[in-house]
Amino acid sequence: ETFYRATLCRCGLSQNKPFCDNAHIKAGFTATGEPPLKDTPALEARDGPLRIAPTVNGPLKLEGNAEIVTGTGHTIARTTKVFLCRCGHSANKPFCDGSHKRVGFVA
Ligand code: FES
Repeated sequence: ETFYRATLCRCGLSQNKPFCDNAHIKAGFTATGEPPLKDTPALEARDGPLRIAPTVNGPLKLEGNAEIVTGTGHTIARTTKVFLCRCGHSANKPFCDGSHKRVGFVA
């Protein structure tokens, strides 16, 4: 399928991973807040294929031209490879910080 924007689960509770199904609302999930803003250099291209693959009981691995935008509309990363938390326990959301191992996340 082709997506230009997608809302990905980061609370770990969606029944439709890697996509959000609003399970976070019922669960009362709270995020860690917005990551610090920093300058991220523009990518050479903004289009092209983006591969999103869940790792085994771990984060989502994104490969391809990607821009990560916060809920308030700030672009916090422009990257061609990034691991995004899907267990809900990272202290550095939306990025994986390895906490999935500590909490024994099972996808
Ligand atoms: S997937 Fe949540 S910390 Fe790695």
